[in-house]
Amino acid sequence: MTNSNIAAPRFMLMGGGAVAQIAELLGKFGLSRPLIVSDKVMVGTGLIDKCLAPLTAAGIAHTVFSDTVSDPTDTVIEAGVKIIRAGNFDCLIGFGGGSPMDTAKAMAILATGGGKMRDYKVPVSADCADLPIIAIPTTAGTGSEATRFTVITDTERDEKMLIAGLGVLPLAAIVDHELTFTVPARTTADTGVDSLTHALEAYVSKRATPFSDALAVSAMALIGRHLRAAYAEPRNAAAREGMMLGANQAGLAFSNSSVALVHGMSRPIGAHFHVPHGLSNAMLLPAVTRFSISGAPARYAEAARRIGLASDGDADGGACTRLVGGLEALNTTLAVPTPAAFGIKEDAWNAKMDLMAEQALASGSPANNPRVPSKDEIVALYREVWTGAARNAR
Ligand SMILES: NC(=O)c1ccc[n+]([C@@H]2O[C@H](COP(=O)([O-])OP(=O)(O)OC[C@H]3O[C@@H](n4cnc5c(N)ncnc54)[C@H](O)[C@@H]3O)[C@@H](O)[C@H]2O)c1
Ligand SMILES: [Fe+2]
Repeated sequence: MTNSNIAAPRFMLMGGGAVAQIAELLGKFGLSRPLIVSDKVMVGTGLIDKCLAPLTAAGIAHTVFSDTVSDPTDTVIEAGVKIIRAGNFDCLIGFGGGSPMDTAKAMAILATGGGKMRDYKVPVSADCADLPIIAIPTTAGTGSEATRFTVITDTERDEKMLIAGLGVLPLAAIVDHELTFTVPARTTADTGVDSLTHALEAYVSKRATPFSDALAVSAMALIGRHLRAAYAEPRNAAAREGMMLGANQAGLAFSNSSVALVHGMSRPIGAHFHVPHGLSNAMLLPAVTRFSISGAPARYAEAARRIGLASDGDADGGACTRLVGGLEALNTTLAVPTPAAFGIKEDAWNAKMDLMAEQALASGSPANNPRVPSKDEIVALYREVWTGAARNAR
């Protein structure tokens, strides 16, 4: 076995209602001056009070930066860094979906090293951050509470940049599924497919390790079992808990392996057409999986069995066929639109395919795919996703 580098938060508090212990968690690390990074929905719906009330009760003064946007931008990070510099904070609490957590991570990096956000994108290793991050996810989810990644949009270049390193790995996380009861069905579906994609890509990645495999396999089983129920029944506690655990394990899995071609192709769609991250993954997942299977058929077959799309008795070939069909059926159940139904114009899509393929390759993620695509193959996949060729070919 080759050596592998394993990284995870120092501490994770898991379970329904766990967010009530935020003050005790800060106390464990001697922290007492948090800047809470969140978004307008968390503040507007009052969900953030689940974090603020226990801090107030413990006499911990706090400031909230709630200007985070979905798919956070470099300009929002710069605004957040100004708040850090104007205050006297000893930690950042990212409270919300992947966007607020990723914003907090990027703020810590930029506040420490200065410069521009793009100075830190891969292959740079963003290892230094003076402020520790406590991450509290409210979607299930990106797994960002447990990953050494943040994804920030470069607004000048319309590019979703991957930033990786120990500086963006949270010190601690609170993983409380009760915070996800209010997630709307569309976002439940999109974030759930994101976590499924993390687990599947971690498992088939060229960088998979025995450590990431164990987490990916467990995550695929949890997400395969609970995603549909979480989508259909928002207050189904068992389904929400299963999804939260699955998303967290999927995050740990890909953070210690990698994502691959789906994510590589998904980020440019998000940057150019403002499709939510999980939704662009879902649009790509069946076609990219079908393209990739020949690179690791045994792994894809095992993934199909773990997700519950094939049975233990299915031979690899049959299990792989069921995987692609099952992912398409999942998209139908979760009402995933085609790019056209989402509102993207065909001319605009075609005009960007070349650039998107270049940006996908430059991110490095396609190189981890079991079947490494050429630029032309990526363009063909974008075309296929537009026409629904994977669907029609069945
Ligand atoms: N750092 C990583 O490892 C990693 C991994 C995958 C994705 N990402 C990034 O994370 C971002 C996406 O995160 P996301 O999918 O969680 O979406 P998000 O954070 O943008 O949230 C989506 C929407 O759901 C709302 N929401 C969140 N929690 C809610 C709740 N409990 N109740 C009601 N509404 C709620 C938000 O306010 C927002 O409007 C993207 O920028 C993506 O690139 C990061
Ligand atoms: Fe993702």
